[in-house]
Amino acid sequence: MTKNSIVVSGIRPTGNLHLGNYMGAVKNFLKMQNEYNCFFFIADYHSLTTHPNPMDLHQNVRQVLAEYLACGLDPEKCTLYIQSDLPQIPELYLLLNMHAYKGELERVSSFKEKARTQPDNINAGLLTYPVLMAADIIIHRAGLVPVGKDQEQHLEMARTFGNRFNRMYSIDLFPEPQAFNYGGELVKIPGLQGGGKMSKSDGDNNVINLVDEPEKLRKKIMKAVSDSGPTEPNSAPSQSAQNLFDLMATVSSPETLNFFKEAHANCNIRYGDLKKQLAEDMIQFLTPIREKIQDIYADEAYLGKVAKLGAEKARESAEATLTEARKAIGFKRFF
Ligand code: TYM
Repeated sequence: MTKNSIVVSGIRPTGNLHLGNYMGAVKNFLKMQNEYNCFFFIADYHSLTTHPNPMDLHQNVRQVLAEYLACGLDPEKCTLYIQSDLPQIPELYLLLNMHAYKGELERVSSFKEKARTQPDNINAGLLTYPVLMAADIIIHRAGLVPVGKDQEQHLEMARTFGNRFNRMYSIDLFPEPQAFNYGGELVKIPGLQGGGKMSKSDGDNNVINLVDEPEKLRKKIMKAVSDSGPTEPNSAPSQSAQNLFDLMATVSSPETLNFFKEAHANCNIRYGDLKKQLAEDMIQFLTPIREKIQDIYADEAYLGKVAKLGAEKARESAEATLTEARKAIGFKRFF
């Protein structure tokens, strides 16, 4: 991997960022901004598939921008922008859509899942969501995309659409973007309710938001699903116990985690104690971030300046790629 690799990633403005977003994506962004040419954005076009009301959308974009900055993204080190500030993205999306087929789009897991959970709103934007995401990534000719495990299939589609364009127009314009995590493996942070990944769609009690106040965190974590305790020494943890260990691994010290894992192996684990410790470690981790979010959110002038600077830098990069794509297609101007 070379130092000059280009990095792109984004997060949808669906409310407050949660621990899954932080550990799957933002944590990598923070380190990558020191090592690569990074483009990080707020995917507001993507959030339109669920028809947010304009006021909420506006506030949520502002919130994510404040959260990005509070976590430590530095607009001097990376290009930080709002997706809808780049008209080049929908244009590339349109070009890519001409070579994206209904059959392959219908087979994407996230589409199938949405079609199942929101049968009354299976819109074209939902079907072509992976095309828009490909446009986001390849518009800057990115090689690396820091994301959580749930985005793996979308990355595969981005490679497919980029390669297809290259082949169709006999051009070597788009490199193949790879999903990235510093640990090697892409991560999936579990929710608090015992199931799969931490996600807003399973309700607020399932997620740990970066802005959650200490009392709220304690309540949510104490209510987290566990089990009735192991009965055999050295038995494998149940899914809900494993989730608690996984959450603990994100914020607690290795000694603390080992202490509770050993207690589990010895059949004398007390989940109440584990949760209390997890809540305190989580509070310690999140408090400085929460305090910064509040300050930055209130500073409208600063947020405006950051968004404007980011849009200018991102547009320049996007325009350079789009010019090549337009030329390859045959859109040459005679006037
Ligand atoms: P979104 O907004 O659902 O999530 C943003 C990022 O957070 C990661 N993530 C998680 N990681 C680990 N465990 C979890 N429980 C968890 N929940 C969320 C996601 O993997 C993602 O990295 N389609 C994207 C947004 C997007 C994008 C892009 C990303 C649009 N264009 C271009 C990268 C490149 C999405 O909906 O992510």
